[in-house]
Amino acid sequence: MNILLVGSGGREHALAWKIAQSPLVRRLVIAPGNPGMDALGDRVDLKVTDADALTVLAREMRADLVVVGPETALEAGLADRLTAAGIPCFGPSAKAARLETSKAFSKAFMERHEIPTAGYGVYERLHEARQALTVFKPPYVIKADGLAAGKGVAISPDKRDAEAEIERMLGGRFGTAGARVVIEEFMDGEEGSLFAVCDGQSALLLGGAQDHKRAFDGDLGPNTGGMGSYSPAPVFTPELVEAAERLIVQPVVAAMAAEGAPYRGVLYAGLMATAEGPRVVEFNARFGDPECQVLMMRMDGDIVPLLLACAKGDLTQARLPTFSTDTVICVVLAAKGYPDSPLEGSIIRGAEQDFGPHVQVFHAGTKRRPDGQLAAAGGRVLNVCARGRDIVEARERAYAAVRKIDWPGGFHRTDIGWRAVERD
Ligand code: AMP
Ligand code: GLY
Repeated sequence: MNILLVGSGGREHALAWKIAQSPLVRRLVIAPGNPGMDALGDRVDLKVTDADALTVLAREMRADLVVVGPETALEAGLADRLTAAGIPCFGPSAKAARLETSKAFSKAFMERHEIPTAGYGVYERLHEARQALTVFKPPYVIKADGLAAGKGVAISPDKRDAEAEIERMLGGRFGTAGARVVIEEFMDGEEGSLFAVCDGQSALLLGGAQDHKRAFDGDLGPNTGGMGSYSPAPVFTPELVEAAERLIVQPVVAAMAAEGAPYRGVLYAGLMATAEGPRVVEFNARFGDPECQVLMMRMDGDIVPLLLACAKGDLTQARLPTFSTDTVICVVLAAKGYPDSPLEGSIIRGAEQDFGPHVQVFHAGTKRRPDGQLAAAGGRVLNVCARGRDIVEARERAYAAVRKIDWPGGFHRTDIGWRAVERD
Protein backbone atom coordinates (compact mmCIF):
# COMPACT_ATOMS: atom_id res chain seq x y z
CA MET A 1 0.00 0.00 0.00
CA ASN A 2 0.92 3.64 -0.49
CA ILE A 3 0.09 5.78 2.51
CA LEU A 4 0.12 9.54 2.90
CA LEU A 5 0.43 10.84 6.46
CA VAL A 6 -0.40 14.51 7.06
CA GLY A 7 1.17 16.49 9.89
CA SER A 8 4.49 17.46 11.39
CA GLY A 9 4.40 16.98 15.16
CA GLY A 10 5.30 14.33 17.70
CA ARG A 11 1.93 12.68 17.18
CA GLU A 12 2.69 12.24 13.50
CA HIS A 13 6.22 11.01 14.18
CA ALA A 14 4.73 8.32 16.43
CA LEU A 15 2.10 7.44 13.79
CA ALA A 16 4.79 7.26 11.09
CA TRP A 17 6.93 5.03 13.32
CA LYS A 18 3.98 2.66 13.84
CA ILE A 19 2.74 2.72 10.23
CA ALA A 20 6.25 2.12 8.87
CA GLN A 21 6.39 -1.17 10.82
CA SER A 22 3.47 -2.57 8.82
CA PRO A 23 4.37 -5.22 6.25
CA LEU A 24 1.50 -3.88 4.14
CA VAL A 25 3.24 -0.57 3.47
CA ARG A 26 5.15 -0.17 0.23
CA ARG A 27 5.58 3.59 0.37
CA LEU A 28 4.99 6.11 3.13
CA VAL A 29 4.89 9.80 2.26
CA ILE A 30 4.69 12.39 5.00
CA ALA A 31 3.54 15.97 4.41
CA PRO A 32 5.32 17.91 5.73
CA GLY A 33 6.76 15.77 8.55
CA ASN A 34 9.86 16.75 10.50
CA PRO A 35 13.54 15.74 10.46
CA GLY A 36 12.90 12.92 12.93
CA MET A 37 10.85 11.12 10.27
CA ASP A 38 13.44 11.22 7.49
CA ALA A 39 14.26 7.53 7.84
CA LEU A 40 10.59 6.46 7.91
CA GLY A 41 9.29 7.85 4.63
CA ASP A 42 9.56 10.48 1.91
CA ARG A 43 8.79 13.99 3.07
CA VAL A 44 6.94 16.51 0.94
CA ASP A 45 6.86 20.13 2.03
CA LEU A 46 3.16 21.07 1.94
CA LYS A 47 1.02 22.95 4.43
CA VAL A 48 -1.40 20.70 6.34
CA THR A 49 -4.20 23.17 5.56
CA ASP A 50 -3.55 23.11 1.79
CA ALA A 51 -6.29 20.59 1.04
CA ASP A 52 -6.00 21.09 -2.73
CA ALA A 53 -2.28 20.39 -2.92
CA LEU A 54 -2.51 17.43 -0.53
CA THR A 55 -5.30 15.90 -2.61
CA VAL A 56 -3.20 16.29 -5.77
CA LEU A 57 -0.26 14.66 -3.98
CA ALA A 58 -2.45 11.77 -2.78
CA ARG A 59 -3.66 11.21 -6.33
CA GLU A 60 -0.19 11.45 -7.87
CA MET A 61 1.32 8.97 -5.42
CA ARG A 62 -1.68 6.66 -5.82
CA ALA A 63 -2.39 6.71 -2.12
CA ASP A 64 -4.48 3.81 -0.86
CA LEU A 65 -4.97 5.61 2.43
CA VAL A 66 -4.45 9.09 3.82
CA VAL A 67 -4.01 9.46 7.57
CA VAL A 68 -4.68 12.95 8.90
CA GLY A 69 -2.94 13.99 12.13
CA PRO A 70 -3.90 17.59 12.99
CA GLU A 71 -7.31 19.17 13.48
CA THR A 72 -6.41 22.19 11.33
CA ALA A 73 -6.26 19.94 8.26
CA LEU A 74 -9.68 18.50 9.11
CA GLU A 75 -11.14 21.97 9.58
CA ALA A 76 -9.72 22.92 6.17
CA GLY A 77 -11.81 20.12 4.61
CA LEU A 78 -9.03 17.71 3.69
CA ALA A 79 -11.14 14.62 4.41
CA ASP A 80 -13.97 16.05 2.29
CA ARG A 81 -11.64 16.69 -0.65
CA LEU A 82 -10.10 13.24 -0.47
CA THR A 83 -13.47 11.53 -0.18
CA ALA A 84 -14.70 13.45 -3.23
CA ALA A 85 -11.60 12.21 -5.07
CA GLY A 86 -12.36 8.62 -4.03
CA ILE A 87 -9.32 8.28 -1.76
CA PRO A 88 -9.88 6.58 1.62
CA CYS A 89 -9.15 9.02 4.43
CA PHE A 90 -8.66 8.32 8.12
CA GLY A 91 -10.05 11.50 9.68
CA PRO A 92 -13.53 13.05 9.78
CA SER A 93 -15.17 15.51 7.39
CA ALA A 94 -15.08 19.19 8.32
CA LYS A 95 -18.70 18.92 9.38
CA ALA A 96 -18.05 15.95 11.68
CA ALA A 97 -14.84 17.55 13.00
CA ARG A 98 -16.95 20.39 14.42
CA LEU A 99 -17.13 18.20 17.53
CA GLU A 100 -13.67 19.66 18.09
CA THR A 101 -13.46 22.77 15.92
CA SER A 102 -16.50 24.50 17.43
CA LYS A 103 -17.07 24.25 21.15
CA ALA A 104 -20.48 25.88 20.64
CA PHE A 105 -21.46 23.11 18.18
CA SER A 106 -20.07 20.42 20.41
CA LYS A 107 -21.88 21.67 23.53
CA ALA A 108 -25.21 22.01 21.67
CA PHE A 109 -24.74 18.53 20.19
CA MET A 110 -24.17 17.04 23.63
CA GLU A 111 -27.21 18.87 24.96
CA ARG A 112 -29.38 17.57 22.09
CA HIS A 113 -28.29 14.00 22.71
CA GLU A 114 -28.06 14.06 26.50
CA ILE A 115 -24.35 13.28 26.57
CA PRO A 116 -23.08 14.03 30.11
CA THR A 117 -21.11 17.28 30.19
CA ALA A 118 -20.91 20.62 32.03
CA GLY A 119 -23.77 23.16 31.80
CA TYR A 120 -22.83 26.12 29.59
CA GLY A 121 -23.75 29.30 27.75
CA VAL A 122 -22.40 30.84 24.51
CA TYR A 123 -21.91 34.62 24.25
CA GLU A 124 -20.89 37.04 21.54
CA ARG A 125 -21.29 40.27 23.47
CA LEU A 126 -19.30 41.42 26.41
CA HIS A 127 -22.22 42.61 28.50
CA GLU A 128 -24.10 39.33 28.01
CA ALA A 129 -21.07 37.30 29.03
CA ARG A 130 -20.52 39.54 32.07
CA GLN A 131 -24.15 39.17 33.00
CA ALA A 132 -23.88 35.38 32.71
CA LEU A 133 -21.14 35.30 35.33
CA THR A 134 -23.80 36.03 37.93
CA VAL A 135 -25.48 32.72 37.06
CA PHE A 136 -22.36 30.52 37.17
CA LYS A 137 -20.46 29.78 40.37
CA PRO A 138 -16.68 30.13 40.76
CA PRO A 139 -14.27 28.89 39.58
CA TYR A 140 -15.34 30.17 36.17
CA VAL A 141 -14.48 28.18 33.05
CA ILE A 142 -14.08 30.48 30.03
CA LYS A 143 -13.36 29.11 26.55
CA ALA A 144 -12.79 30.59 23.11
CA ASP A 145 -15.27 28.94 20.71
CA GLY A 146 -12.82 27.97 17.96
CA LEU A 147 -9.45 26.26 17.64
CA ALA A 148 -6.70 27.76 19.78
CA ALA A 149 -4.12 24.95 19.97
CA GLY A 150 -5.26 23.91 23.44
CA LYS A 151 -4.63 27.36 24.86
CA GLY A 152 -8.07 28.96 24.56
CA VAL A 153 -9.33 27.92 28.00
CA ALA A 154 -9.07 29.86 31.24
CA ILE A 155 -10.19 28.79 34.71
CA SER A 156 -10.75 31.96 36.70
CA PRO A 157 -10.96 31.92 40.49
CA ASP A 158 -13.09 35.07 40.73
CA LYS A 159 -15.34 37.34 38.69
CA ARG A 160 -12.75 40.04 38.06
CA ASP A 161 -10.33 37.58 36.54
CA ALA A 162 -13.14 35.94 34.54
CA GLU A 163 -14.22 39.32 33.15
CA ALA A 164 -10.66 40.12 32.13
CA GLU A 165 -10.40 36.77 30.30
CA ILE A 166 -13.70 37.34 28.51
CA GLU A 167 -12.55 40.80 27.45
CA ARG A 168 -9.29 39.40 26.15
CA MET A 169 -11.00 36.63 24.17
CA LEU A 170 -13.77 38.77 22.69
CA GLY A 171 -11.12 41.46 22.12
CA GLY A 172 -9.33 39.25 19.59
CA ARG A 173 -6.58 37.47 21.55
CA PHE A 174 -7.36 34.26 19.65
CA GLY A 175 -8.49 35.99 16.44
CA THR A 176 -11.76 34.71 15.05
CA ALA A 177 -11.57 31.62 17.32
CA GLY A 178 -12.53 34.00 20.15
CA ALA A 179 -15.42 35.73 18.39
CA ARG A 180 -17.70 33.79 20.73
CA VAL A 181 -16.94 32.66 24.25
CA VAL A 182 -18.34 29.66 26.05
CA ILE A 183 -18.79 29.83 29.82
CA GLU A 184 -19.11 26.48 31.58
CA GLU A 185 -19.97 24.99 34.89
CA PHE A 186 -16.80 23.79 36.65
CA MET A 187 -16.51 19.99 36.92
CA ASP A 188 -14.51 18.51 39.74
CA GLY A 189 -12.61 15.25 39.31
CA GLU A 190 -9.65 13.60 37.64
CA GLU A 191 -9.25 13.94 33.88
CA GLY A 192 -8.41 11.33 31.28
CA SER A 193 -8.31 11.02 27.50
CA LEU A 194 -10.21 8.11 25.98
CA PHE A 195 -9.64 7.09 22.34
CA ALA A 196 -11.90 5.21 19.95
CA VAL A 197 -11.62 4.54 16.24
CA CYS A 198 -14.82 5.02 14.28
CA ASP A 199 -16.07 4.01 10.84
CA GLY A 200 -19.08 6.33 10.62
CA GLN A 201 -21.49 3.86 12.27
CA SER A 202 -19.67 2.22 15.12
CA ALA A 203 -16.64 2.63 17.33
CA LEU A 204 -13.92 0.43 18.79
CA LEU A 205 -12.22 1.59 21.97
CA LEU A 206 -8.45 1.86 21.89
CA GLY A 207 -8.08 2.76 25.55
CA GLY A 208 -7.05 5.67 27.64
CA ALA A 209 -4.16 7.90 28.58
CA GLN A 210 -3.63 10.87 30.81
CA ASP A 211 -1.87 14.02 29.77
CA HIS A 212 -0.56 17.02 31.68
CA LYS A 213 -1.89 20.24 30.22
CA ARG A 214 -0.24 22.80 32.49
CA ALA A 215 3.23 24.09 31.63
CA PHE A 216 4.96 23.58 34.98
CA ASP A 217 5.45 21.02 37.75
CA GLY A 218 2.60 20.55 40.18
CA ASP A 219 0.08 21.27 37.40
CA LEU A 220 0.85 24.98 37.64
CA GLY A 221 1.22 27.65 34.97
CA PRO A 222 -0.64 28.22 31.72
CA ASN A 223 -2.53 25.58 29.75
CA THR A 224 -0.52 24.09 26.88
CA GLY A 225 -1.11 21.52 24.16
CA GLY A 226 0.25 18.94 26.64
CA MET A 227 3.57 18.58 28.48
CA GLY A 228 3.57 14.82 28.93
CA SER A 229 1.40 11.72 29.01
CA TYR A 230 1.23 8.12 30.09
CA SER A 231 -0.81 5.02 29.41
CA PRO A 232 -2.47 3.02 30.82
CA ALA A 233 -3.82 5.60 33.26
CA PRO A 234 -5.26 4.24 36.53
CA VAL A 235 -8.10 6.78 36.34
CA PHE A 236 -9.61 4.51 33.67
CA THR A 237 -11.11 1.82 35.85
CA PRO A 238 -13.10 -0.84 33.96
CA GLU A 239 -16.31 0.75 35.31
CA LEU A 240 -15.36 4.21 34.03
CA VAL A 241 -14.46 2.84 30.59
CA GLU A 242 -17.70 0.84 30.40
CA ALA A 243 -19.78 3.90 31.36
CA ALA A 244 -17.89 6.15 28.94
CA GLU A 245 -18.42 3.74 26.06
CA ARG A 246 -22.14 3.29 26.81
CA LEU A 247 -23.04 6.88 27.69
CA ILE A 248 -20.62 8.81 25.50
CA VAL A 249 -18.67 7.09 22.71
CA GLN A 250 -21.34 4.87 21.12
CA PRO A 251 -24.15 7.49 21.44
CA VAL A 252 -21.92 10.17 19.85
CA VAL A 253 -21.11 8.02 16.83
CA ALA A 254 -24.77 7.02 16.40
CA ALA A 255 -25.96 10.63 16.78
CA MET A 256 -23.40 12.02 14.33
CA ALA A 257 -24.59 9.47 11.74
CA ALA A 258 -28.22 10.36 12.47
CA GLU A 259 -27.42 14.07 12.01
CA GLY A 260 -25.91 13.40 8.59
CA ALA A 261 -22.28 13.85 9.61
CA PRO A 262 -20.99 10.28 10.04
CA TYR A 263 -17.85 10.28 12.12
CA ARG A 264 -14.80 8.51 10.66
CA GLY A 265 -11.45 8.61 12.37
CA VAL A 266 -10.36 8.88 15.97
CA LEU A 267 -12.80 10.19 18.51
CA TYR A 268 -10.88 11.59 21.43
CA ALA A 269 -13.10 12.09 24.45
CA GLY A 270 -11.53 14.31 27.08
CA LEU A 271 -13.33 13.11 30.21
CA MET A 272 -13.71 14.19 33.80
CA ALA A 273 -14.21 11.28 36.19
CA THR A 274 -16.70 12.97 38.52
CA ALA A 275 -18.58 11.54 41.49
CA GLU A 276 -21.54 11.09 39.10
CA GLY A 277 -19.51 9.21 36.51
CA PRO A 278 -17.70 10.31 33.34
CA ARG A 279 -18.57 13.71 31.88
CA VAL A 280 -17.16 15.23 28.71
CA VAL A 281 -14.68 18.10 29.01
CA GLU A 282 -14.13 18.28 25.26
CA PHE A 283 -14.02 16.21 22.13
CA ASN A 284 -11.14 16.16 19.70
CA ALA A 285 -11.36 14.85 16.19
CA ARG A 286 -7.89 13.31 16.07
CA PHE A 287 -5.34 11.52 18.22
CA GLY A 288 -4.11 13.48 21.23
CA ASP A 289 -0.63 14.88 21.24
CA PRO A 290 1.26 13.60 23.33
CA GLU A 291 -1.25 10.82 24.11
CA CYS A 292 -0.83 9.26 20.67
CA GLN A 293 2.86 8.70 21.28
CA VAL A 294 2.25 6.48 24.31
CA LEU A 295 -0.67 4.63 22.69
CA MET A 296 1.42 3.83 19.60
CA MET A 297 4.22 2.44 21.75
CA ARG A 298 1.77 0.23 23.66
CA MET A 299 -0.15 -1.02 20.63
CA ASP A 300 0.73 -4.56 19.48
CA GLY A 301 0.42 -5.65 15.89
CA ASP A 302 -0.34 -3.77 12.72
CA ILE A 303 -2.23 -0.47 12.87
CA VAL A 304 -2.72 -0.13 9.12
CA PRO A 305 -5.70 -2.53 8.66
CA LEU A 306 -7.53 -0.71 11.45
CA LEU A 307 -6.98 2.74 9.94
CA LEU A 308 -7.99 1.48 6.50
CA ALA A 309 -11.17 -0.19 7.82
CA CYS A 310 -12.26 3.11 9.41
CA ALA A 311 -11.42 5.07 6.27
CA LYS A 312 -13.42 2.64 4.15
CA GLY A 313 -16.36 2.82 6.54
CA ASP A 314 -16.43 -0.77 7.71
CA LEU A 315 -14.94 -1.85 11.01
CA THR A 316 -17.03 -5.02 11.24
CA GLN A 317 -14.20 -7.25 10.00
CA ALA A 318 -11.43 -5.39 11.84
CA ARG A 319 -9.59 -7.02 14.65
CA LEU A 320 -9.32 -4.92 17.78
CA PRO A 321 -5.64 -4.34 18.45
CA THR A 322 -4.22 -5.49 21.72
CA PHE A 323 -2.12 -3.32 23.97
CA SER A 324 0.90 -4.23 26.01
CA THR A 325 0.41 -4.24 29.77
CA ASP A 326 3.58 -2.16 30.00
CA THR A 327 3.24 1.45 31.01
CA VAL A 328 4.56 3.99 28.54
CA ILE A 329 5.33 7.56 29.52
CA CYS A 330 6.12 10.58 27.38
CA VAL A 331 8.00 13.64 28.58
CA VAL A 332 7.67 16.70 26.35
CA LEU A 333 10.72 18.91 25.98
CA ALA A 334 9.54 22.41 25.08
CA ALA A 335 11.40 25.53 24.04
CA LYS A 336 11.84 28.11 26.77
CA GLY A 337 9.01 30.63 26.57
CA TYR A 338 6.39 28.02 25.52
CA PRO A 339 3.38 28.36 25.36
CA ASP A 340 3.37 32.15 24.92
CA SER A 341 6.53 32.90 22.95
CA PRO A 342 8.83 29.90 22.48
CA LEU A 343 12.42 30.72 21.59
CA GLU A 344 13.27 29.50 18.10
CA GLY A 345 16.52 28.12 16.79
CA SER A 346 18.42 26.90 19.85
CA ILE A 347 20.70 23.94 19.18
CA ILE A 348 19.89 20.48 20.56
CA ARG A 349 22.62 17.89 21.11
CA GLY A 350 22.31 14.20 21.85
CA ALA A 351 18.71 13.70 20.78
CA GLU A 352 19.57 11.26 18.02
CA GLN A 353 21.74 8.81 19.93
CA ASP A 354 20.71 5.20 20.56
CA PHE A 355 18.76 5.24 23.83
CA GLY A 356 18.28 1.47 23.97
CA PRO A 357 15.26 -0.77 23.40
CA HIS A 358 12.88 0.84 25.90
CA VAL A 359 13.09 4.43 24.71
CA GLN A 360 11.85 6.29 21.64
CA VAL A 361 12.49 9.96 21.03
CA PHE A 362 9.89 11.48 18.72
CA HIS A 363 10.49 14.86 17.15
CA ALA A 364 7.75 17.47 17.46
CA GLY A 365 9.12 20.87 16.48
CA THR A 366 12.66 20.42 15.17
CA LYS A 367 14.57 21.53 12.11
CA ARG A 368 17.84 20.43 10.59
CA ARG A 369 20.32 23.26 10.11
CA PRO A 370 22.54 23.39 7.01
CA ASP A 371 25.45 22.27 9.23
CA GLY A 372 23.49 19.12 10.15
CA GLN A 373 22.75 20.13 13.72
CA LEU A 374 19.28 19.78 15.15
CA ALA A 375 17.56 22.97 16.33
CA ALA A 376 14.28 23.98 17.94
CA ALA A 377 11.55 25.04 15.52
CA GLY A 378 8.39 25.19 17.59
CA GLY A 379 6.94 25.23 21.09
CA ARG A 380 6.93 21.55 21.87
CA VAL A 381 10.15 20.23 20.38
CA LEU A 382 10.93 16.65 21.46
CA ASN A 383 8.97 13.79 23.04
CA VAL A 384 11.02 11.41 25.12
CA CYS A 385 9.00 8.19 25.53
CA ALA A 386 9.89 5.11 27.53
CA ARG A 387 8.24 1.84 28.45
CA GLY A 388 8.50 -0.08 31.70
CA ARG A 389 6.73 -2.74 33.74
CA ASP A 390 5.05 0.02 35.70
CA ILE A 391 4.91 3.79 35.86
CA VAL A 392 7.95 4.00 38.15
CA GLU A 393 10.21 2.04 35.81
CA ALA A 394 8.92 3.82 32.71
CA ARG A 395 9.43 7.18 34.36
CA GLU A 396 12.99 6.41 35.46
CA ARG A 397 13.90 5.34 31.94
CA ALA A 398 12.32 8.41 30.36
CA TYR A 399 14.04 10.89 32.66
CA ALA A 400 17.37 9.04 32.31
CA ALA A 401 17.07 9.64 28.55
CA VAL A 402 16.04 13.26 29.06
CA ARG A 403 19.24 13.82 31.04
CA LYS A 404 21.32 12.61 28.10
CA ILE A 405 19.93 15.34 25.84
CA ASP A 406 21.89 18.56 25.94
CA TRP A 407 19.50 21.41 25.24
CA PRO A 408 19.95 24.57 27.29
CA GLY A 409 17.17 26.27 25.28
CA GLY A 410 14.52 23.85 26.51
CA PHE A 411 12.56 22.93 29.61
CA HIS A 412 10.36 20.05 30.72
CA ARG A 413 8.20 18.99 33.63
CA THR A 414 9.88 16.68 36.12
CA ASP A 415 6.66 15.16 37.48
CA ILE A 416 4.97 13.49 34.50
CA GLY A 417 2.85 10.59 35.76
CA TRP A 418 2.68 11.87 39.34
CA ARG A 419 -0.93 10.84 39.86
CA ALA A 420 -0.19 7.25 38.86
CA VAL A 421 3.01 7.20 40.95
CA GLU A 422 1.13 8.42 44.01
CA ARG A 423 -1.48 5.70 43.59
CA ASP A 424 1.15 2.96 43.47
P1 AMP B 1 -10.35 21.98 26.91
O1 AMP B 1 -9.48 22.67 25.92
O2 AMP B 1 -11.80 22.23 26.71
O3 AMP B 1 -9.99 20.54 27.07
O4 AMP B 1 -9.96 22.60 28.33
C1 AMP B 1 -8.62 22.61 28.79
C2 AMP B 1 -8.56 22.20 30.23
O5 AMP B 1 -9.35 23.06 31.04
C3 AMP B 1 -9.13 20.82 30.47
O6 AMP B 1 -8.21 19.84 30.22
C4 AMP B 1 -9.53 20.91 31.93
O7 AMP B 1 -8.40 20.72 32.76
C5 AMP B 1 -9.99 22.31 32.07
N1 AMP B 1 -11.44 22.39 31.91
C6 AMP B 1 -12.12 22.65 30.77
N2 AMP B 1 -13.45 22.65 30.98
C7 AMP B 1 -13.62 22.39 32.29
C8 AMP B 1 -14.79 22.29 33.12
N3 AMP B 1 -16.02 22.48 32.66
N4 AMP B 1 -14.59 22.00 34.42
C9 AMP B 1 -13.35 21.84 34.92
N5 AMP B 1 -12.22 21.94 34.18
C10 AMP B 1 -12.35 22.22 32.89
N1 GLY C 1 -2.98 16.56 24.60
C1 GLY C 1 -4.19 17.21 24.35
C2 GLY C 1 -4.59 17.31 22.96
O1 GLY C 1 -4.03 16.70 22.08
O2 GLY C 1 -5.55 18.03 22.69
